[in-house]
Amino acid sequence: MAVVITIDGPSGAGKGTVCARLAEQLGWHLLDSGALYRITGLAASRKQIALDDDAAVAAVAAALDVHFEPLATGVQVMLEGENVTDTIRTEKVGSLASQVAALPAVRAALLQRQRDFRLTPGLIADGRDMGTVVFPNAEVKVFLTASAEERGRRRYEQLLDKGFNASLPALIEDIRARDDRDSNRAVAPLKPADDAITIDSTELTIDQVCEHVADLVRK
Ligand code: CDP
Repeated sequence: MAVVITIDGPSGAGKGTVCARLAEQLGWHLLDSGALYRITGLAASRKQIALDDDAAVAAVAAALDVHFEPLATGVQVMLEGENVTDTIRTEKVGSLASQVAALPAVRAALLQRQRDFRLTPGLIADGRDMGTVVFPNAEVKVFLTASAEERGRRRYEQLLDKGFNASLPALIEDIRARDDRDSNRAVAPLKPADDAITIDSTELTIDQVCEHVADLVRK
């Protein structure tokens, strides 16, 4: 069976960039599990389904007509034939995602869809519960983190780059609140797998983190 590397951690730790770069370097498949929760939130809200109706949102998750198409510029996300790549990255859809991610039947409905990404030669799985729930037997498990201040600073710079105004203290506060919600929710709380290796990226560049993970794969 294909090799799996799981990379879990809080928002802003650099998982997305590290996972995309590793998948590219190794020529492996990539699972962006957060995108599945974002797409589920978007699809449910478009169908005007209450976001706390676990069974109804799970039915949407089970029936999702979604395709991930790798392009030179990144992965293009198609929902029912519509390109939603940019739409799912908005703060609004992030908030829909975190609401549906707290529902147990929704998580269960997305489980097999995530496992289906395990294809040869290997898979890099990016998320919150990749090493604990989705791929408990993964060969390498990483928990990638960074201080809330540093994650706030990274988000701040991203927003400025895109021409948005932002308040750094408010962003750090927001990250702390999100950490708290993710770590204390009843289903699949954010925590390192018992056999995960924790990498703190506060003082590391993306290149250094990728090198560190690539070392773990070579071992
Ligand atoms: O980019 P960011 O880290 O903010 O978000 P994301 O990775 O795209 O995930 C969006 C939402 O889905 C977050 O609120 C996570 O709590 C949730 N999620 C999850 O519960 N389990 C996963 N495996 C991935 C994401």
